[in-house]
Amino acid sequence: MKLILQTATTLPHLLSSHSEPANIPYAWRLPAGRRCRPDVRHFMTTAHATGGWREHEAMVRKQFDPAKLSARDFYQLLTAVVVPRPVAWVSSTSVEGVDNLAPHSFYTVASVNPPIVQVTSVGEKDSLRNIEAQGEFVVNLTPASLLDEVNATGTDFPPNISEFDAVGLLREPSAVVRPPRVKDSPVALECRLHRTLPLGDCTLVFGEVVYAVVTTDVLEGDHPRIDLLAPLSRLGRSEWGTLGSITELRRIRVKDWPGQFGGPRREE
Ligand SMILES: Cc1cc2nc3c(=O)[nH]c(=O)nc-3n(C[C@H](O)[C@H](O)[C@H](O)COP(=O)(O)O)c2cc1C
Repeated sequence: MKLILQTATTLPHLLSSHSEPANIPYAWRLPAGRRCRPDVRHFMTTAHATGGWREHEAMVRKQFDPAKLSARDFYQLLTAVVVPRPVAWVSSTSVEGVDNLAPHSFYTVASVNPPIVQVTSVGEKDSLRNIEAQGEFVVNLTPASLLDEVNATGTDFPPNISEFDAVGLLREPSAVVRPPRVKDSPVALECRLHRTLPLGDCTLVFGEVVYAVVTTDVLEGDHPRIDLLAPLSRLGRSEWGTLGSITELRRIRVKDWPGQFGGPRREE
């Protein structure tokens, strides 16, 4: 314990005026009325439990309190830690007939049956206006080979400019909705608007997938091969990700639970 306290006192940047719950053992308090930050207390607790502090030296957690940060700063943190995010390439058509295309990384599967995907519009953008007015959109997969094009369609063009034309992307007619697909994307999910949901400064858009197409080049039977799809992902700041190594691991059913977790180990 002495060692632990010495360590903490030799790291002044770990100290702050954070108040500390009353149940901290006296021996863990620092001299001269100084108190540890909650993260440092965690470090000390762990060190105490394992009987060695050296291996835990790096376990210092910085605090991010959304109540004390601007919405912008907290957004920067969230988008850097909720990663990697798939990038939906959303095509929509305005009432005036302009085909719009924009990347949306706030994107996921929202329902299995009926099949519904969800994208989020941060603020009100042309995509959202078109989808609300026309009730239809297409989510195209963003392949790594089209990184520059995907990024370019995130430019804030006015509504009368089609990103297809500005970026030089070819359209392909959709089967059941009006907005076109991106011809060079290997996957298109044609969607009818299920509903929108205002949430904070955003609008969640739920689209029922009424038709899907996948290029046969990327299929193995009916299964799209992830290495051939080569999807882009969005990370923090202006970072993009491409596919890393792929591991296959089946979920363990409770009837197969090994008793004591730890094995069998996978081959490296
Ligand atoms: C990789 C990437 C992901 C993005 N994700 C979103 C998103 O999830 N929601 C959003 O509203 N804007 C997102 N944007 C910004 C929009 O694409 C951008 O504001 C675009 O100009 C909107 O186009 P629109 O006005 O034609 O709809 C993203 C941009 C990039 C480059």
